[in-house]
Amino acid sequence: MRGIILSGGSGTRLRPLTKITSKQLLPVYHRPMIYYPLNTLIKAGIKEILIIVAPESAGDYLNLLGSGKEFGVKFTYEIQDKPEGLAQAFIIGENFIDKEDVVMILGDNIFEDDFSEEIKSFKGGAKIFAKKVPDPERFGVVKFDSNLKAEKIIEKPVEYLSNFAVTGLYIYDKRVVEIAKTMKPSERGELEITSVNNIYLEKGELEVAMVNGEWLDAGTFDSLLKAQNFAKEKLAAKMII
Ligand code: DAU
Repeated sequence: MRGIILSGGSGTRLRPLTKITSKQLLPVYHRPMIYYPLNTLIKAGIKEILIIVAPESAGDYLNLLGSGKEFGVKFTYEIQDKPEGLAQAFIIGENFIDKEDVVMILGDNIFEDDFSEEIKSFKGGAKIFAKKVPDPERFGVVKFDSNLKAEKIIEKPVEYLSNFAVTGLYIYDKRVVEIAKTMKPSERGELEITSVNNIYLEKGELEVAMVNGEWLDAGTFDSLLKAQNFAKEKLAAKMII
């Protein structure tokens, strides 16, 4: 299993904090934000990690993280010229993914859960993770049928669908590269990860598991502050990097 951390984007919701630095390099208590998703991957035993960054902050990431030797893993870097969507990561990462399965985590997503078992037991298709939230309209949202099987996923639904947000950790088999290549940009001009998930869903090959512990997307002022406090109270002591 290979790992990808998607850490580009323009962080517009956090301006002016992100005017001169990348969102995922901002401090979350005692570490730069990206250390949290990195910790999640390393804890789960992922040894080869592709870090996708925006051109203007590539040097900062290299200075901060280096080769990966310090963490006992190997980093590869790629540049995403423009933030054209989460699913573009699989096109950018085609050579890196090669013929392996891949787990992608978003650089601003902070998880308490340990995904080691989920990753070890992955047998193909796609696996995503949902969490009950009070503000589903901010996320991709999954609706379950009466047998708790995923029925549909909608990106930032305007009309209420359910309270289950799709979190920013996704596991796919190698077919994800070809699937991403068939995508067309959405109305907001992005290759949507939700479209990738819906393709696996239509094939009957999407599994949706639940996130049990805390999950935060630290992309807004309020969620960043919440992440800081959560990191101090709970996560810092459990980090291995
Ligand atoms: O956090 C989970 C949510 O992430 C999911 O529920 C949604 O389905 C998914 O679309 C995504 O929604 P966001 O609106 O939070 O995505 P955002 O544009 O904030 O991007 C998420 C992270 O990925 C952020 O750290 C920036 C980075 N990014 C984003 C885009 C669009 C990139 O590196 N490149 C990109 O092209």
